[in-house]
Amino acid sequence: MSTTSVQNGVPRHIAIIMDGNGRWARRRFMPRVAGHRKGVEAVRAVVRRCAERGVGYLTLFAFSSENWRRPADEVNFLMQLFVRALEDEVARLHENGIRLRVIGDLSRFEPRLIELIHKAEALTAANSGLNLTIAANYGGRWDILQAAERMMKAQPERREGFSEDDLSAHLSMAFAPEPDLFIRTGGEQRISNFLLWQLAYTELYFTEALWPEFNAESIDAAIASYQQRERRFGRTSEQVQAAASGGHA
Ligand code: IPE
Ligand code: IPE
Ligand code: MG
Repeated sequence: MSTTSVQNGVPRHIAIIMDGNGRWARRRFMPRVAGHRKGVEAVRAVVRRCAERGVGYLTLFAFSSENWRRPADEVNFLMQLFVRALEDEVARLHENGIRLRVIGDLSRFEPRLIELIHKAEALTAANSGLNLTIAANYGGRWDILQAAERMMKAQPERREGFSEDDLSAHLSMAFAPEPDLFIRTGGEQRISNFLLWQLAYTELYFTEALWPEFNAESIDAAIASYQQRERRFGRTSEQVQAAASGGHA
Protein backbone atom coordinates (compact mmCIF):
# COMPACT_ATOMS: atom_id res chain seq x y z
CA MET A 1 0.00 0.00 0.00
CA SER A 2 1.15 3.52 -0.76
CA THR A 3 2.81 5.37 2.10
CA THR A 4 1.44 8.76 1.06
CA SER A 5 -2.28 8.03 0.99
CA VAL A 6 -4.63 5.69 2.78
CA GLN A 7 -7.58 4.36 0.79
CA ASN A 8 -10.65 3.43 2.75
CA GLY A 9 -12.65 0.44 1.58
CA VAL A 10 -16.40 0.41 1.05
CA PRO A 11 -18.09 1.90 4.13
CA ARG A 12 -19.52 -0.75 6.43
CA HIS A 13 -22.32 1.58 7.47
CA ILE A 14 -23.87 4.48 5.53
CA ALA A 15 -26.44 6.76 7.17
CA ILE A 16 -28.51 9.13 5.01
CA ILE A 17 -30.74 12.13 5.63
CA MET A 18 -33.03 11.97 2.62
CA ASP A 19 -33.83 15.67 2.20
CA GLY A 20 -35.25 17.82 -0.59
CA ASN A 21 -38.44 16.01 -1.59
CA GLY A 22 -40.60 19.10 -1.13
CA ARG A 23 -38.32 21.36 -3.15
CA TRP A 24 -38.04 18.76 -5.92
CA ALA A 25 -41.82 18.80 -6.28
CA ARG A 26 -42.22 22.57 -6.00
CA ARG A 27 -39.72 23.12 -8.80
CA ARG A 28 -42.04 21.05 -10.96
CA PHE A 29 -45.12 22.95 -9.77
CA MET A 30 -46.34 19.80 -8.04
CA PRO A 31 -47.55 19.40 -4.45
CA ARG A 32 -44.84 18.58 -1.91
CA VAL A 33 -46.19 15.09 -1.42
CA ALA A 34 -45.41 14.22 -5.05
CA GLY A 35 -41.77 14.60 -4.03
CA HIS A 36 -42.22 12.14 -1.19
CA ARG A 37 -43.77 9.62 -3.58
CA LYS A 38 -40.86 10.05 -6.00
CA GLY A 39 -38.47 9.73 -3.06
CA VAL A 40 -39.51 6.10 -2.57
CA GLU A 41 -38.03 5.30 -6.00
CA ALA A 42 -34.73 6.80 -4.90
CA VAL A 43 -34.82 4.61 -1.78
CA ARG A 44 -35.24 1.55 -3.98
CA ALA A 45 -32.28 2.48 -6.19
CA VAL A 46 -30.02 3.32 -3.26
CA VAL A 47 -30.85 0.11 -1.36
CA ARG A 48 -30.08 -1.95 -4.46
CA ARG A 49 -26.79 -0.18 -5.10
CA CYS A 50 -25.63 -0.44 -1.48
CA ALA A 51 -26.38 -4.17 -1.49
CA GLU A 52 -24.41 -4.55 -4.75
CA ARG A 53 -21.47 -2.62 -3.33
CA GLY A 54 -21.34 -4.79 -0.22
CA VAL A 55 -22.31 -2.08 2.26
CA GLY A 56 -23.24 -3.88 5.50
CA TYR A 57 -25.64 -1.37 7.02
CA LEU A 58 -27.75 1.34 5.41
CA THR A 59 -29.70 3.63 7.72
CA LEU A 60 -32.26 6.03 6.26
CA PHE A 61 -33.86 8.96 8.09
CA ALA A 62 -37.49 8.84 6.94
CA PHE A 63 -39.31 10.90 9.58
CA SER A 64 -37.84 12.89 12.44
CA SER A 65 -39.44 13.47 15.82
CA GLU A 66 -39.70 17.12 14.71
CA ASN A 67 -41.54 16.31 11.47
CA TRP A 68 -44.85 16.09 13.40
CA ARG A 69 -44.73 19.90 13.24
CA ARG A 70 -45.59 19.77 9.53
CA PRO A 71 -49.13 20.34 8.23
CA ALA A 72 -51.40 17.44 9.21
CA ASP A 73 -52.12 16.59 5.57
CA GLU A 74 -48.44 16.10 4.82
CA VAL A 75 -47.88 14.02 7.98
CA ASN A 76 -50.86 11.81 7.10
CA PHE A 77 -49.58 11.36 3.57
CA LEU A 78 -46.15 10.33 4.85
CA MET A 79 -47.72 7.78 7.22
CA GLN A 80 -49.81 6.30 4.40
CA LEU A 81 -46.74 6.22 2.16
CA PHE A 82 -44.85 4.35 4.86
CA VAL A 83 -47.68 1.80 5.15
CA ARG A 84 -47.83 1.37 1.37
CA ALA A 85 -44.06 1.05 1.04
CA LEU A 86 -44.03 -1.70 3.66
CA GLU A 87 -46.90 -3.52 1.96
CA ASP A 88 -45.29 -3.27 -1.47
CA GLU A 89 -41.59 -3.67 -0.80
CA VAL A 90 -41.06 -6.09 2.08
CA ALA A 91 -41.47 -9.29 0.06
CA ARG A 92 -38.84 -8.09 -2.41
CA LEU A 93 -36.47 -7.04 0.35
CA HIS A 94 -36.85 -10.49 1.86
CA GLU A 95 -36.16 -12.23 -1.47
CA ASN A 96 -32.95 -10.25 -1.68
CA GLY A 97 -31.79 -11.34 1.77
CA ILE A 98 -32.19 -7.86 3.25
CA ARG A 99 -32.87 -7.51 6.96
CA LEU A 100 -35.22 -4.64 7.79
CA ARG A 101 -35.38 -2.82 11.10
CA VAL A 102 -37.20 0.33 12.15
CA ILE A 103 -35.78 2.54 14.90
CA GLY A 104 -37.52 5.42 16.66
CA ASP A 105 -40.42 5.92 19.03
CA LEU A 106 -43.09 3.80 17.37
CA SER A 107 -45.70 4.47 20.07
CA ARG A 108 -47.15 7.44 18.18
CA PHE A 109 -47.87 5.45 15.01
CA GLU A 110 -51.25 3.94 14.18
CA PRO A 111 -51.66 0.23 15.10
CA ARG A 112 -51.76 -0.87 11.45
CA LEU A 113 -48.34 0.65 10.80
CA ILE A 114 -46.85 -0.80 13.99
CA GLU A 115 -48.13 -4.23 13.05
CA LEU A 116 -46.63 -4.00 9.55
CA ILE A 117 -43.30 -2.95 11.02
CA HIS A 118 -43.22 -5.86 13.47
CA LYS A 119 -44.18 -8.35 10.75
CA ALA A 120 -41.51 -7.06 8.38
CA GLU A 121 -38.86 -7.21 11.08
CA ALA A 122 -39.86 -10.76 12.03
CA LEU A 123 -40.01 -11.94 8.41
CA THR A 124 -36.52 -10.67 7.60
CA ALA A 125 -34.89 -11.32 10.98
CA ALA A 126 -32.78 -14.26 9.82
CA ASN A 127 -31.52 -12.59 6.63
CA SER A 128 -27.79 -12.05 6.39
CA GLY A 129 -27.60 -9.53 3.52
CA LEU A 130 -27.78 -5.76 3.77
CA ASN A 131 -29.04 -4.46 7.12
CA LEU A 132 -31.56 -1.78 6.16
CA THR A 133 -32.72 0.43 9.00
CA ILE A 134 -35.45 3.04 8.69
CA ALA A 135 -35.42 5.80 11.31
CA ALA A 136 -39.03 6.85 11.87
CA ASN A 137 -40.17 9.24 14.58
CA TYR A 138 -36.52 9.12 15.47
CA GLY A 139 -34.50 11.77 17.29
CA GLY A 140 -30.88 11.51 18.38
CA ARG A 141 -31.61 13.13 21.75
CA TRP A 142 -34.53 10.81 22.35
CA ASP A 143 -32.22 7.87 21.59
CA ILE A 144 -29.53 8.97 24.06
CA LEU A 145 -32.13 9.63 26.75
CA GLN A 146 -33.89 6.29 26.36
CA ALA A 147 -30.50 4.54 26.36
CA ALA A 148 -29.55 6.29 29.60
CA GLU A 149 -32.82 5.26 31.22
CA ARG A 150 -32.45 1.65 30.12
CA MET A 151 -28.81 1.57 31.20
CA MET A 152 -29.75 2.71 34.70
CA LYS A 153 -32.71 0.35 34.92
CA ALA A 154 -30.44 -2.56 33.98
CA GLN A 155 -28.32 -1.90 37.10
CA PRO A 156 -30.60 -0.12 39.59
CA GLU A 157 -28.09 -0.33 42.42
CA ARG A 158 -25.36 1.41 40.42
CA ARG A 159 -25.06 5.22 40.69
CA GLU A 160 -21.85 6.14 38.86
CA GLY A 161 -18.85 4.91 36.92
CA PHE A 162 -20.76 4.15 33.72
CA SER A 163 -18.70 3.88 30.55
CA GLU A 164 -19.48 4.97 26.98
CA ASP A 165 -19.83 1.29 26.09
CA ASP A 166 -22.40 0.82 28.87
CA LEU A 167 -24.56 3.52 27.31
CA SER A 168 -24.05 2.68 23.64
CA ALA A 169 -25.17 -0.89 24.33
CA HIS A 170 -28.67 0.52 24.89
CA LEU A 171 -28.86 2.84 21.87
CA SER A 172 -31.35 1.80 19.21
CA MET A 173 -28.53 1.03 16.78
CA ALA A 174 -26.50 -1.05 19.23
CA PHE A 175 -26.63 -3.89 16.68
CA ALA A 176 -24.56 -1.94 14.11
CA PRO A 177 -21.10 -0.42 13.90
CA GLU A 178 -21.14 3.40 13.97
CA PRO A 179 -21.68 4.97 10.52
CA ASP A 180 -18.52 5.40 8.46
CA LEU A 181 -20.25 7.72 5.99
CA PHE A 182 -23.09 10.19 6.53
CA ILE A 183 -24.85 11.64 3.49
CA ARG A 184 -27.32 14.51 3.44
CA THR A 185 -29.02 15.45 0.20
CA GLY A 186 -30.87 18.71 -0.46
CA GLY A 187 -28.01 21.14 0.21
CA GLU A 188 -28.61 21.74 3.92
CA GLN A 189 -25.53 21.20 6.08
CA ARG A 190 -26.90 20.06 9.42
CA ILE A 191 -27.58 16.91 11.41
CA SER A 192 -31.24 17.68 12.30
CA ASN A 193 -31.21 15.46 15.41
CA PHE A 194 -30.24 12.30 13.52
CA LEU A 195 -27.76 9.81 15.06
CA LEU A 196 -26.05 12.27 17.42
CA TRP A 197 -24.01 9.82 19.50
CA GLN A 198 -23.03 7.55 16.63
CA LEU A 199 -21.90 10.31 14.22
CA ALA A 200 -19.03 11.39 16.49
CA TYR A 201 -16.35 10.21 14.02
CA THR A 202 -18.36 9.69 10.85
CA GLU A 203 -17.20 11.22 7.56
CA LEU A 204 -19.78 13.80 6.46
CA TYR A 205 -20.88 14.25 2.85
CA PHE A 206 -23.30 16.95 1.75
CA THR A 207 -24.73 17.21 -1.73
CA GLU A 208 -27.01 19.73 -3.44
CA ALA A 209 -28.84 16.88 -5.20
CA LEU A 210 -32.45 16.64 -4.04
CA TRP A 211 -33.41 13.23 -2.68
CA PRO A 212 -35.75 12.23 -5.57
CA GLU A 213 -32.89 12.70 -8.03
CA PHE A 214 -30.35 10.76 -5.94
CA ASN A 215 -29.47 7.42 -7.57
CA ALA A 216 -26.90 4.62 -7.91
CA GLU A 217 -24.29 6.95 -9.44
CA SER A 218 -24.81 9.43 -6.61
CA ILE A 219 -24.11 6.72 -4.02
CA ASP A 220 -21.00 5.70 -5.95
CA ALA A 221 -19.82 9.33 -5.93
CA ALA A 222 -20.35 9.60 -2.17
CA ILE A 223 -18.46 6.35 -1.56
CA ALA A 224 -15.63 7.54 -3.83
CA SER A 225 -15.38 10.74 -1.77
CA TYR A 226 -15.30 8.70 1.44
CA GLN A 227 -12.52 6.50 0.07
CA GLN A 228 -10.27 9.55 -0.37
CA ARG A 229 -10.65 10.70 3.23
CA GLU A 230 -8.00 10.07 5.83
CA ARG A 231 -9.66 8.94 9.06
CA ARG A 232 -7.36 9.90 11.89
CA PHE A 233 -9.47 9.40 15.03
CA GLY A 234 -7.30 11.91 16.86
CA ARG A 235 -3.94 10.53 15.66
CA THR A 236 -1.49 12.27 13.34
CA SER A 237 -1.43 11.63 9.62
CA GLU A 238 2.05 10.08 10.00
CA GLN A 239 0.75 7.58 12.55
CA VAL A 240 -2.17 6.61 10.35
CA GLN A 241 0.07 6.04 7.33
CA ALA A 242 2.63 4.08 9.30
CA ALA A 243 -0.11 1.80 10.62
CA ALA A 244 -1.53 1.33 7.11
CA SER A 245 1.85 0.27 5.73
CA GLY A 246 2.32 -2.19 8.55
CA GLY A 247 4.80 -0.16 10.55
CA HIS A 248 4.57 1.18 14.09
CA ALA A 249 4.04 4.82 14.94
C1 IPE B 1 -37.36 15.11 3.24
O1 IPE B 1 -37.77 16.06 2.30
C2 IPE B 1 -38.45 14.15 3.61
C3 IPE B 1 -38.94 14.28 4.99
C4 IPE B 1 -38.48 15.13 5.87
C5 IPE B 1 -40.02 13.41 5.37
P1 IPE B 1 -38.45 17.39 2.74
O2 IPE B 1 -39.92 17.18 2.80
O3 IPE B 1 -37.84 17.92 3.97
O4 IPE B 1 -38.10 18.33 1.51
P2 IPE B 1 -37.71 19.87 1.55
O5 IPE B 1 -36.54 19.98 2.48
O6 IPE B 1 -38.89 20.63 2.03
O7 IPE B 1 -37.36 20.17 0.14
C1 IPE C 1 -34.66 15.82 8.30
O1 IPE C 1 -35.19 16.56 7.25
C2 IPE C 1 -35.48 14.62 8.58
C3 IPE C 1 -35.67 13.68 7.47
C4 IPE C 1 -35.08 13.67 6.31
C5 IPE C 1 -36.58 12.63 7.75
P1 IPE C 1 -35.93 17.94 7.50
O2 IPE C 1 -36.13 18.55 6.16
O3 IPE C 1 -37.13 17.75 8.34
O4 IPE C 1 -34.84 18.74 8.33
P2 IPE C 1 -34.80 20.27 8.83
O5 IPE C 1 -35.92 20.45 9.78
O6 IPE C 1 -34.95 21.13 7.61
O7 IPE C 1 -33.47 20.42 9.45
MG1 MG D 1 -36.28 19.18 4.36
